[in-house]
Amino acid sequence: MDTRVPRLVASVLPADFSELGPEVRRLEKAGVDRIQWDVMDGRFVPNLTFGPDVIAANRGHVSMGFEAHLMVEDPDSMLPRWVDAGCEIIIVHAEGTRHLHRTLSVISELGARAGVALNPSTPLEAVTNVLHLVDLLLVMTVNPGFGGQQYLAAMEDKIGAARTEIDKRGLDIELEVDGGIAGGTIGAAARAGADVFCAGSALFNGPGTLEDRVTALRGAAIAGIESR
Ligand code: DX5
Repeated sequence: MDTRVPRLVASVLPADFSELGPEVRRLEKAGVDRIQWDVMDGRFVPNLTFGPDVIAANRGHVSMGFEAHLMVEDPDSMLPRWVDAGCEIIIVHAEGTRHLHRTLSVISELGARAGVALNPSTPLEAVTNVLHLVDLLLVMTVNPGFGGQQYLAAMEDKIGAARTEIDKRGLDIELEVDGGIAGGTIGAAARAGADVFCAGSALFNGPGTLEDRVTALRGAAIAGIESR
């Protein structure tokens, strides 16, 4: 995977939930690379969103990839459901599962790509022993649970350390950031080492058309990557 080509992922948290099908079609037409479904259980995070049936209902509307970002306690019990719903990537939180090595292995056995997410307070060391099982590492740049929060620039050291570790070991891992990603922050996250950028508010709100916002974000990410 060429880490110098930024991928733009849309979080549908700010979307009109009564119109999710047309919303994901609009995002695909505007050039977004993937959809992130923010799954929240009201326990791991103080918010509640949607389950696999909602994702499955929207699978046929677009051909682009789906990733399930599981902000849930004990993700193991439902892993096959997200794959059946049409998600090619399943992201669990390192803080939400007791046996991360087993959970990542099961996701791969189910034929999906395995992702692991780190809350802001969790060090990279929490996953260095299982990076060989990981296809995507998600460094949260906000405390998970809500959209529209302030980007945490303090996470750039962790993004940089992850970039160094991945490159040093020659691992084929997408390095994603999520939370407060917008025109004024995406460049810094890209410069620090990220190559996948999940945005919600900055895609759904802001100047110009959705296409304009996608182009502007992608341009700022490319500039950030080129300035490394
Ligand atoms: C927060 C979610 C994010 C959020 C991003 O827990 O994981 O995906 O929706 O929204 P913005 O881009 O508005 O911070």
